[in-house]
Amino acid sequence: MNRIRLAVIGAGAIGRKHIDVIQQTPEAELVALADPSPQAQTLAASLGVAWYADINDMLDRTNPQGVINATPNTLHVPCAIACVERGIPVLVEKPVAESPERAQELVDAAALRGVPVLVGHHRRHNALTAAAKTLIDSGELGNIVAVSAHWILQKPDDYFDVAWRREPGAGPLLVNLVHDIDLLRYLLGEIEEVQAMTSNAGRGFANEDSAVVNLRFACGALGSAVLSDCGVSPWSWEMNSAENEIYAHTPENCYLISGSKGALAIPQMRWWRYGEQRGWHAPLLQETLAVEPIDPFILQLRHFLQVIVGEAEPIIDAADALRSLEVIDAIRQISQKAA
Ligand SMILES: NC(=O)c1ccc[n+]([C@@H]2O[C@H](COP(=O)([O-])OP(=O)(O)OC[C@H]3O[C@@H](n4cnc5c(N)ncnc54)[C@H](O)[C@@H]3O)[C@@H](O)[C@H]2O)c1
Repeated sequence: MNRIRLAVIGAGAIGRKHIDVIQQTPEAELVALADPSPQAQTLAASLGVAWYADINDMLDRTNPQGVINATPNTLHVPCAIACVERGIPVLVEKPVAESPERAQELVDAAALRGVPVLVGHHRRHNALTAAAKTLIDSGELGNIVAVSAHWILQKPDDYFDVAWRREPGAGPLLVNLVHDIDLLRYLLGEIEEVQAMTSNAGRGFANEDSAVVNLRFACGALGSAVLSDCGVSPWSWEMNSAENEIYAHTPENCYLISGSKGALAIPQMRWWRYGEQRGWHAPLLQETLAVEPIDPFILQLRHFLQVIVGEAEPIIDAADALRSLEVIDAIRQISQKAA
């Protein structure tokens, strides 16, 4: 079988993860990197693949069957549109764009050309997510009443040595909370209303470093999310899910979901419910759902290959990712008003 020829645009932190995953996937072949940095040129030479400083040169000369776009946020839309205009399916890292307006441009371009766009909300491909979704949809938790999400960790100071990560729009709302919003929308349905406050008191950058957010879901559930990239804590998807070995694993939970019949703590997958007697005098029964770990980036790439050959529609397309971005944008606007 011919391997599917892929190119990666942006060979930074997450671009290198995508490259590793391509190399672990026998059905895929990395044919080119586009990234103007000298580090990317060196990497391309070490991998024996073509290197281009300019993405248009790369697309025109190597004509890949699919592209992974792992550039900084503000380049997601122009790079993805360059692919779409050439009829090349593209996996765009999250957030799909830096603003809903920019995301809409990509939604429109993809629809006009009929080219699939998959957005890199990789947590959706995680087996933990699938297990949680199955339990919630089975009705075993009853009507979902409340959810509490934590994303608190301390990014190393040198993470911010990269200029774009300090620029407006690259704070943890757009870079990190957008993952949680996507996951909560997937598990519980659409979000109708938000309240929020943000702070930059921890790092003192132009971007927020911490935020608290209240959410009202269309299903009637209420939620709260607390996030910070400068607080010490064991509660975040990165540290709790063990999905990526670059983060120290801490077996705690970062999502607590409560329904009228039961509760689920994710990602340790502890399921709580009553036996014959209900109410606060009765003991809760607890079991742990067994989930076979598999790297969601590998599953995401396998899905992207199916999308490229027309065997699947993107499970998160640009229009879906735009809805998560609209929630983030509402949070940003409300927190600015509150400041
Ligand atoms: N899915 C995830 O879990 C995840 C994790 C980290 C980052 N991300 C997202 O991936 C994107 C990249 O983040 P990162 O931390 O890897 O950033 P990074 O700064 O480490 O890497 C970005 C790369 O893009 C390159 N680049 C800059 N301009 C370019 C251009 N015009 N053409 C081609 N390449 C160009 C840079 O040289 C750099 O190598 C961000 O949007 C971020 O939100 C997603």
